Amino acid sequence: MCEVKFHSGEQIPLEMHKVRVVQKLNLLPVEERLKAIAAAGNNTFLLRNEDVYLDMLTDSGVNAMSDRQIAAMMVADDSYAGSATFYRLESKVHDLLGTQYFLPAHQGRACENILAETFVRPGDVVPMNFHFTTAKAHVTRRGGTVEELVIDEGLIPESDLLFKGNIDHDKLRACIRRVGAEHIPFIRLEAGTNLIGGQPFSLENALETARIAHESGIPVVLDASLLQDNLYFMKTREPACRDMSIRAISHALCDEMDIIYFSARKLGFARGGGIATHAQTYCERMKELVPMYEGFLTYGGMSVREMEAMAVGFEETMDESVISQGPQFIRFMCEELIKHGVPVVTPPGGLGCHVNARAFLPHVDAHAYPAAALAAATFIAGGVRGMERGTLSEQREPDGTEPIAAVELLRLAMPRRVFTMSQVLYAVDRIAWLYENRNIVGGLRFTEEPASLRFFFGRLEPIGDWQERLAAKFRADFGDSL
Ligand code: F0G
Repeated sequence: MCEVKFHSGEQIPLEMHKVRVVQKLNLLPVEERLKAIAAAGNNTFLLRNEDVYLDMLTDSGVNAMSDRQIAAMMVADDSYAGSATFYRLESKVHDLLGTQYFLPAHQGRACENILAETFVRPGDVVPMNFHFTTAKAHVTRRGGTVEELVIDEGLIPESDLLFKGNIDHDKLRACIRRVGAEHIPFIRLEAGTNLIGGQPFSLENALETARIAHESGIPVVLDASLLQDNLYFMKTREPACRDMSIRAISHALCDEMDIIYFSARKLGFARGGGIATHAQTYCERMKELVPMYEGFLTYGGMSVREMEAMAVGFEETMDESVISQGPQFIRFMCEELIKHGVPVVTPPGGLGCHVNARAFLPHVDAHAYPAAALAAATFIAGGVRGMERGTLSEQREPDGTEPIAAVELLRLAMPRRVFTMSQVLYAVDRIAWLYENRNIVGGLRFTEEPASLRFFFGRLEPIGDWQERLAAKFRADFGDSL
């Protein structure tokens, strides 16, 4: 329905919005890009945004807002307690998720903190389709462990399986038998599974997961941060959902979830978060932590302006022509890269285009962080800032050994409604050039390694002089072009 066919037969995503506010961008010459990435310790998180041309680090908190969202911000009710804005947001959460109770929090990881403190005890196991960095850190900080039960095919980067975020139900049953339901505080189901390439689960798989969990009296927690992409994929890839509205699919899923939390930096095109549930008992157990960590129950650490924008964003999330934009641009970018032979995660998922760094740089040792090296190289090649999602994003084991990540990806996020087609084509062009010159790219090693969440603050250096050689090759090939 939301695909517009071109007479030429080409499959080109068409923007269903127009740009009315713009931000000027800088594109530094390659020599300056080389200096900037060195100053950032080869960690794209530590780059200054003024040095970045295309910021594809994340889709978190950087999605374009609509005119209606901006307008709604003007009517926010700025009161500490009982704000009308809160009740508008609560009712919109009810509309989208079908839940009765809503606890606001300042962002997704704040919800994870509240959930872990309320439910996780030392020795507990939290099964998940796949972990997200902060979700796992909150569980392990409380002495729990995480078990990943995604289907085996979910970890194969190139595939034609449509729902690579599905849980393997045999693994789930075996896990419940082995651990015992009393040591499983909840099962966490992540929509649009982030770390394996924004891959969705199917409605059928999620409902069966809930059925198995409930049989053993275990609640299911849905991380709905990337729900909008997952809903789009259910609608377009799952025959049973084809004739359902986005709202109906969302309700069919959420009706069977016990607790739903989200980062509104992704879901709802604003900045914030929250926890929703059908059950008063769960709400009561978590409620007192909101004023303790976040803010009073009617703002939870969020700005009321953002809450107004979020309520409108949730309404827009139920519009297929809005939520199709991200996945369609991502698919376009992936297909263009594939034409140049660049290995990307397939089928294209949500959130962004994910380059398979292990296949791109097979000559770089797994402990020399191929995806982080590729992120640095991509910045040098085009001023494009992506994010490492691989071994560098893992935590070391207590004995100091470094686990090798299941998948080693460079994520090029596609903030919603932000980039134009020519910018996407520019990124493709520079990455295709880099692929032709991949033998120049080498690995990285730490100069400063933090104990946890090391991808945020760690500093690294190139092994050898490959970055100077890469910049020199760029100059030779592109002449005086930026
Ligand atoms: N869950 C998922 C699936 C996420 O992708 C994120 C954030 C969070 C929870 C935490 O939410 O940032 O609001 O605290 N993902 C961002 C990213 C950071 O870049 O992928 P938050």
